[in-house]
Amino acid sequence: MLILAIESSCDETSAAVCEFDGDTSVIRSNIIASQIETHKLYGGVVPEIASRAHCDAISSITYEALERAGVTLDDIDAVAVTSNPGLIGALLVGVNFAKALAFANGKPLIPVNHIRGHIAANYFVHPSLKPPFLALVASGGHTSLIKVTDYTEFETVGRTRDDAIGEAFDKVGRVMGLPYPGGAEMDRLASIGNSDAVKFPSAAVIGDNLDFSFSGLKTAVINHLHNAEQKGEAYVKEDIAASFTKAVTSSVVKKLTMAVEATGLSDIVIAGGVAANSHLRTALEALAEKRKLKLYLPPRSLCGDNAAMIGAQGYFEYLAGVRADTSLNAKATGK
Ligand code: KG4
Ligand code: ZN
Repeated sequence: MLILAIESSCDETSAAVCEFDGDTSVIRSNIIASQIETHKLYGGVVPEIASRAHCDAISSITYEALERAGVTLDDIDAVAVTSNPGLIGALLVGVNFAKALAFANGKPLIPVNHIRGHIAANYFVHPSLKPPFLALVASGGHTSLIKVTDYTEFETVGRTRDDAIGEAFDKVGRVMGLPYPGGAEMDRLASIGNSDAVKFPSAAVIGDNLDFSFSGLKTAVINHLHNAEQKGEAYVKEDIAASFTKAVTSSVVKKLTMAVEATGLSDIVIAGGVAANSHLRTALEALAEKRKLKLYLPPRSLCGDNAAMIGAQGYFEYLAGVRADTSLNAKATGK
């Protein structure tokens, strides 16, 4: 079957055509219009501007996805759309566009949770991947450890209690003067810095839990930078990026290890924008090797927000009988 998928939860307008046939899934097209250049001017995503930019782009992006896939709307079997969580105004653009498209053309409409979508991106590239498995979703808006018991059954076993992991990368980057979003540049700087230059606190919440707290770590780094500035001392951005990244990766390794022990699961899936981080990938590969875990990493092209991942999860929601009617609404929250 062919699914047309639409994603507009944050600052990327994306449409994709995905083909599913039993155990095989193919991305026929996956068009992503990023608004980053616009939001860069403000140092972060401005929700009102994001919604307006989605309105401008969504129609042409959708038709480009159809054209690139070599199909027309007639060939599409179902429309999948991100309905939660995300920026409400941004989500509403995708949801209402998808509703109009689906119902005007007599196609079933499938609402998809964005976080489930990030996890599902892995099915395209890892045909052997099947639930149950443990997923780490690490993005700009979310940081969760999720037990995926079936394709449409999820149980969050750990989460951040404050900032998301990507948000911490971006905020530290911003204080060091890096353009928004700083995550990818922090990754590059960390590769040439000394990760033992400064010892930053862990983001793993102390105790018998699977939670993170990135706010304390972020504040410790920012205080360190402000202290250096006040004393007129120069700091080495590369060393700060490397030391911060070390604190982040060791926190993730610690809680993931605890989650493996708590759940008894040994298949691990990583998802979300921060899954592109080379240091995190290396640390998790080492953990997998040491603990004899099977690690599934998405290609970098499918880590960030994209509609193909919504199509992948949409397929399983469709098989499970999930359908939306014209009353479908967007929701800012929701696991
Ligand atoms: O999944 P995503 O595209 O959007 C959300 O759903 O939030 O994730 C975006 C986040 C941003 O915070 C960005 O800085 C971060 O992913 N990111 C990275 C890297 N590439 C993107 N963080 C660390 N290292 C990277 N290489
Ligand atoms: Zn995302």
